[in-house]
Amino acid sequence: RAFWCVVPAAGHGRRFGSEVPKQYMPLAGQPLILRTLERLAAHPRIAGLMVVLAEGDSAWVGIDSMDGKPVRTAIGGDERAHSVLAGVRALPDTVTADDFVLVHDAARPCVRASDIEQLVVRVTQADGGLLGAPLRDTLKRADAHGCSTGTEPREGRWRAFTPQMFRRGALDRALAQALADGVAITDEAMAMERAGVTPLLVEGSEDNLKITTRADLALAEFLLPRTR
Ligand code: CTP
Ligand code: MG
Repeated sequence: RAFWCVVPAAGHGRRFGSEVPKQYMPLAGQPLILRTLERLAAHPRIAGLMVVLAEGDSAWVGIDSMDGKPVRTAIGGDERAHSVLAGVRALPDTVTADDFVLVHDAARPCVRASDIEQLVVRVTQADGGLLGAPLRDTLKRADAHGCSTGTEPREGRWRAFTPQMFRRGALDRALAQALADGVAITDEAMAMERAGVTPLLVEGSEDNLKITTRADLALAEFLLPRTR
């Protein structure tokens, strides 16, 4: 079976700090967002792409299909959760409330096809889940002076990546509830956890990096051909 993927791309890339939003910065000669979309569209588990753009985005490439799969767009909001919810709500009616949907950051072009496959295989036997990796470094708590005031246990701590995969109806409800409660949601799994779901953590490759700064873009240039 194949599933729709919501691709939030409505951020302003404040930490990246470029004139054009980071999703339009060139990566191996193409806008970053196109690199991400082409990798998703090429995957047999992806049925269609719902790209969520910022209001007034003038840089969008204007495509409506890729690799023979439909590419639709929706308009996002201030927080990532607003953008993802707008994308989920704009999905075609053929996607039922019980159907799974994926959510994948536009800023993660190096996701491996084998990791998407693993996620889909494992999550379709569960309630939902996400790619991630166990924490490798020691995690410190910092005070306002940049001094370490303590150490978090590393045991049992994971970093959360995307794609994340949940049923359309449950994801819609969980995101809407989190927004209504005024809780800052940094990923879909967090909204689902609040709704009482325990998303499956599927270990994925560490090179599925999220492009946040310019140094990440240089690293992605190196990783892109090596993660195919
Ligand atoms: N995103 C979104 N809508 C928002 C905020 C973020 O669709 N209101 C998207 C971004 O475009 C990105 C993904 O969510 O593809 C992950 O967010 P992040 O890496 O934080 O990107 P930005 O929010 O753009 O960057 P920054 O936090 O540095 O401003
Ligand atoms: Mg952000």
